Amino acid sequence: MAQTGVRIVAAGHYAPAAILTNEDLEKVLDTSDQWITSRTGMKRRHVSSADEATSDLALAAARRALANASLKPSDIDCFIVATVTPDYVFPATACIVAAKLGAKDTAAFDIEIACSGFIYGLTVASSLVRSGIFRRVMLIGAETLSKLVNRNDRGTAILFGDGAGAVILEASAADSFLSSELGSDGSRPEILRVPAGGSRKPLTPSAWDAGEQYIYMEGREVFKFAVTKMIAVTDSALRKANLTHADVDWLIPHQANKRIIDSAAKYLGMSNDKVIVNIHEYGNTSAASIPIALSEALASGKIQPGNVIVFVGFGGGLSWGAVTWRWVA
Ligand code: UT7
Repeated sequence: MAQTGVRIVAAGHYAPAAILTNEDLEKVLDTSDQWITSRTGMKRRHVSSADEATSDLALAAARRALANASLKPSDIDCFIVATVTPDYVFPATACIVAAKLGAKDTAAFDIEIACSGFIYGLTVASSLVRSGIFRRVMLIGAETLSKLVNRNDRGTAILFGDGAGAVILEASAADSFLSSELGSDGSRPEILRVPAGGSRKPLTPSAWDAGEQYIYMEGREVFKFAVTKMIAVTDSALRKANLTHADVDWLIPHQANKRIIDSAAKYLGMSNDKVIVNIHEYGNTSAASIPIALSEALASGKIQPGNVIVFVGFGGGLSWGAVTWRWVA
């Protein structure tokens, strides 16, 4: 089988029009703009409407990525959607997106590894292209987490938002992919999960009444894990690529908490202007946060050919990962 390099040819993103601000949250919860801003860096989140599903957000981001690449849906050989909020338990949201785009008989599947979804997806999509299995793969991180949030739980209701980011990967003589490091620890699912609605605990009326259809999170525990893993996995990925902290031009981290991002950036010795942060605008959009940040950074012209980027994320599983990437035009 042919071996080739891979590059990202274009990205696109989409977020629903409706906005939920910290001031809106102050009116319905025992919280404050001051607390949310200082503890998380968040100011606003975009929220999908009742009739907007994850595939709708993914579709809008996909169309923008295709337009930015001047490609048609039929030019894509495989669609991957990273999401923890699929339209249905099955079929896969990627199949729905491919069909809505008009792509016929195309490979499509979902990746479910929560907020690490884009990092895992980028590793899988790059491998599919570099191995020669597919020439072009579209990877979309898309979420409607607002539908999984208990509006009465101030520990989670302030954090999560909706959005989608799409990238198109393509076979290339020059290789962008430098390394990937992935990990997981499933021994403590109880600290971050949706307790009911799966085969362990189907969504019965009593589970519904107990609010077990919503995200449950022990924030402080997840925070400690996140800081440690962001640093460790970034270092491992850099080592695999024979790179040092000084080689990194851009850090594009999962947007879960500005304090987590700041501590990783400080460890890496990166100044704020080298870290892509948009948490104030979107909150935590799980698998969508990194591709939205990348899409915005590309649109603003920040990322230049030859730049080394570290994509790093962590989340439910628990799971974590980092990919190092050299931008190829
Ligand atoms: O995407 C991956 C998954 N998620 C994450 O990565 C999230 C990781 N965790 C976090 O970002 C932080 O732990 C949170 C933002 C969730 C919470 O911040 P914290 O600094 O860890 O706060 P805490 O949970 O230690 O709570 C401190 C205090 C508590 O009050 P007491 O016990 O000290 O009186 C909380 O009850 O803040 C209180 N609190 C709030 N106060 C106002 C918790 N949530 C709120 C709130 N508004 N929304």
